[in-house]
Amino acid sequence: MPRDPFDWITGAAAARERAGLVRRLRPRPADDTRLDLASNDYLGLSRHPEVIEGAVTAARRWGAGATGSRLVTGTTGLHAELEAELAAFCGFEAALVFSSGYAANIAAVTALTGHDTLVVSDAGNHASLIDGCRLSRAQTAVTPHADPEAVDKALDAHGGRALVVTDAVFSVDGDAAPLAALAGVAAGHGAALLVDDAHGLGVLGPGGSGTPAAQGVAGGRGVVATVTLSKSLGSQGGAVLGPAAVIEHLVNTARTFIFDTGLAPAAAGAALAALRLLRREPQRAARVREVARTLHEGLTASGLRAIRPDAAVISVPAPLPEQALSWAADCRSAGVSVGCFRPPSVPDGISRVRLTARADLERQDIDFALRTLAATAPRA
Ligand SMILES: Cc1ncc(COP(=O)(O)O)c(C=O)c1O
Repeated sequence: MPRDPFDWITGAAAARERAGLVRRLRPRPADDTRLDLASNDYLGLSRHPEVIEGAVTAARRWGAGATGSRLVTGTTGLHAELEAELAAFCGFEAALVFSSGYAANIAAVTALTGHDTLVVSDAGNHASLIDGCRLSRAQTAVTPHADPEAVDKALDAHGGRALVVTDAVFSVDGDAAPLAALAGVAAGHGAALLVDDAHGLGVLGPGGSGTPAAQGVAGGRGVVATVTLSKSLGSQGGAVLGPAAVIEHLVNTARTFIFDTGLAPAAAGAALAALRLLRREPQRAARVREVARTLHEGLTASGLRAIRPDAAVISVPAPLPEQALSWAADCRSAGVSVGCFRPPSVPDGISRVRLTARADLERQDIDFALRTLAATAPRA
């Protein structure tokens, strides 16, 4: 009898089970009463009435879907408005909206590189940047985490066209990249700098305008940034921000722009409403940073080895994947949702429980979360 073509999947599943690395989907109830420290809804905007109204109005006016690629029928007035306002808010000349942050990252890396380009990529970068490097077919040098000197050396050794790629705030540990130093190093070699600000928009910089603005590199000549609309802005989608010539180049060459259906009008409308709300209420950004600091201080005070957050993400290493998994499960049973990161999602192989601060958490929420985390922590 011919062999079952999916036999190998059973073996792979058994190996995952033995290693404690099985992932399962857990649909969340719409009326979940647990305290949410797992989502990326940093500003608490995904359920804000104005943001929901932005989505509803856009769907009524433009329809449920974008109906085609951005280059065919998928661009509405709403997309253009969102691009103009995002670019202005973050301090860049122009912007281009994509159907996800993932697609925006793939587009930026692949469109800004060629066979002769060196990509210098931080070891802690997000999977979407790593996939962009792979798809670019350019030579990639992976440098140690947050190490501008190593980037300098890699650029020196290459000598030609190059792109330096980094998360602005690293999604696993929540630390910020040294963007000013990296921009200086890149400029010194005539290289471009691509910054993924998925976790910085809405949290860092004046009024939440992002990490490039916070570190004084927004709008710089060789600087391009990407953002997601799915975290602080509570919607869905992504964008690339940069010089107008770069944006026009992306419109003409980026495959995840050209061969993808445009962002749904409802998502564009929600993101635009969230952006306008953030401009009107800039204190939301300061508040999420304050909540993150308070959570970190509380965890440290209870003897947990939490990594100091530069933005909203707070990571607590757990020695074994099973421990991270059961810690997160115990928190969930006690009423607090937290994230759980295990290999292969962690570059150094160390599992973590991950908390995300939200601007709308009250003091009693923070205290409850801290008590729960301490009571359920794995014993050494
Ligand atoms: C650092 C980083 N970059 C990019 C993305 C991808 O963004 P999106 O979820 O909009 O595809 C994420 C989020 O998941 C992220 O954490």
